[in-house]
Amino acid sequence: MTYDKQTKYENLTKEINAVLKNETNMIARYSTVVCLLSREFDYFYWTGFYLIDQKKLNELVIGPYQGTLGCLRIPFGKGVCGLSAELKKTLIISDVHNFTNHISCDVNSKSEIVVPVFDKNRNLIAVLDVDSSKLDAFDEVDKSGLEHICSLLVF
Ligand code: SME
Repeated sequence: MTYDKQTKYENLTKEINAVLKNETNMIARYSTVVCLLSREFDYFYWTGFYLIDQKKLNELVIGPYQGTLGCLRIPFGKGVCGLSAELKKTLIISDVHNFTNHISCDVNSKSEIVVPVFDKNRNLIAVLDVDSSKLDAFDEVDKSGLEHICSLLVF
C-alpha cells in the first residue's frame, strides 16, 4: 500500500513516540529520529541535527546525521541552518543554489528545510537540517510534520 506524505508523518510520529518512550539520553533520541526520518522519505538526501555548542552559544556544531560529510560548525546567521537558529523559525529553501547565504557541503543538495528545536522553556537547543537532491522537495506538510517531530524530542 502507498501512503501519502501526511499519513507517513503521522505513522512515523507514532513510531518515534513508541521507540523513544523510556529513553532520556538526548544523543539516543536525536540519532533515532534521524535514522527513522531518513529511512522513511526517499527524497531526504542528508538528514541531521546541528546542536548549540554549550561552550560557544552562538555557534552550531554537528550532531547525529545520516548522509555525506557535513560541515562541522556553523555560526549563527550563516547558511540556512545558522539563519534558522538566529531567527528561531523554520526555513524552506526550494533552490539552495539561488540562496546566497547557503553553505554548500555537497553539490548534490538542491533544496533544504531547517527546523528549530526548543527545550521546555522555549530555549533553542538545536536545528534539524534536511537536504534533498531534488529541487523544491519540501512543502507545508514537511514543515508541520517535522516541527511536530522536533517538539517530541524534548521530554
Ligand atoms: N546546507 C547547510 C549547511 C549544512 S549541510 O548542508 C549538511 C546550510 O546552508 O545551512
